[in-house]
Amino acid sequence: MSNRMPVNRRGLLLGGAATSLLAACGGGGGGGSYSSGGGTSSSSSSSSSASGPTLPDPSTAPALKTHFAANFKIGMAADASTATQALSNAILVKHASSITAENAMKANPIGVSEGVYDYSQADALVTYCQTNGIALRGHNLVWHATAPAWFFAGNTADPTYKATVRARLEKYITDVVTHFKGKVYCWDVVNECTSDDSSSNYRTASPWYTALGPDYIEYALRAARAADPTVQLFINDYSTEDTSKRGRLMAIVADLQAKGVPLDGIGHQLHLSITSTTAAAVDAALADVEAKGLINHVTELDISIYSDPGSCYSSGSGCAAQVTAGSQAYYTALQSQALLYRALYNAFAKRASVKSVTTWGVADNHTWLNGFPITRTNYPLLFDTSGNPKSAFWAVVDATFVP
Ligand code: G3I
Repeated sequence: MSNRMPVNRRGLLLGGAATSLLAACGGGGGGGSYSSGGGTSSSSSSSSSASGPTLPDPSTAPALKTHFAANFKIGMAADASTATQALSNAILVKHASSITAENAMKANPIGVSEGVYDYSQADALVTYCQTNGIALRGHNLVWHATAPAWFFAGNTADPTYKATVRARLEKYITDVVTHFKGKVYCWDVVNECTSDDSSSNYRTASPWYTALGPDYIEYALRAARAADPTVQLFINDYSTEDTSKRGRLMAIVADLQAKGVPLDGIGHQLHLSITSTTAAAVDAALADVEAKGLINHVTELDISIYSDPGSCYSSGSGCAAQVTAGSQAYYTALQSQALLYRALYNAFAKRASVKSVTTWGVADNHTWLNGFPITRTNYPLLFDTSGNPKSAFWAVVDATFVP
């Protein structure tokens, strides 16, 4: 089984354009206030006397899923192994109305070999969601980074090669969508199919594109619709807030729509940093999707506290230095993060087309950004490493809170 790891994939594929991806790109009891100090972090402590804003008592935190019930589902990424841990479980049960499998529903754990599937991790998450009354996003069916090699086995010069790969793709999608029918409300059918540069609309560095050309997207969407006529079908991608990348994605969408290919919405990953973008840029992306008659899901939101240059993504050089929890730099970054989170949720809430908003993780104790683009402790989510609401959380739910 191939497991194409995504680490550095953006840098390798993006080169200088990486800048536009991230760099341009409760519990608790008792009354009174709650310190936002670095003591809640697993990072090294600081002798600095810096302090952040005084945060409300965690026990007074409103449930996000209730706060935004009239607007959109509140989602968080987790696998069953994460969801069932006490810290994550308490947050998910209180705040989440949607979960996305961080890894369990990808083709590398599920597609063991042709016609042989391992649903064990995914089914454990289905059970968790059903037990707790939480909806499940399907993520994902087709992604260059997690496509097992058996899909592409064979002689590419053989005149039947393309038909063989297409049949494998369609059988996989038919079987997996059928397995989860009635258990997921949508699927990221195709993940990250858009080019990062203007050489093509399509990501060409993909085994799917190599084998089938751009038509794999149409094959996948049609197979998913045939297997489940009611589940919502998405294309999910990152840097949709970047106008040039979004232009290429919208061209792909226009082509699919002209052919009558089923597509219900666009997933905006929104892996951001505190300096990479503005809520206005994100809102423009939401508007463009609406103009195509599609719905918007925010699928993987997180806000890195680091502002890295493109070289950090392409070669791991020039990356911002580790920030020490409790330092002034830490609080300054968390303040910027809170203000961007607030502006984003305000923008999401203003658009009826936004039906689901998911953060890529539950709390800062578990985030892929601790390993990407380099190994470094990050604090990108709404809850801290102890599971308490951060400044960003309070900024989102309370317009009067000063982060
Ligand atoms: O489970 C195995 C474990 O058995 C093995 O010992 C270990 C050794 O490396 O690997 C473990 O699998 C890892 C898996 O995460 C679970 O931890 C994979 O190597 C690793 O590649 C995988 O990374 C995930 C990545 O997608 C690739 O699937 C990240 O957790 C996950 O956060 C990330 O999520 C993606 C979205 O799906 C799509 N958008 C970008 C986002 C961030 O890259």
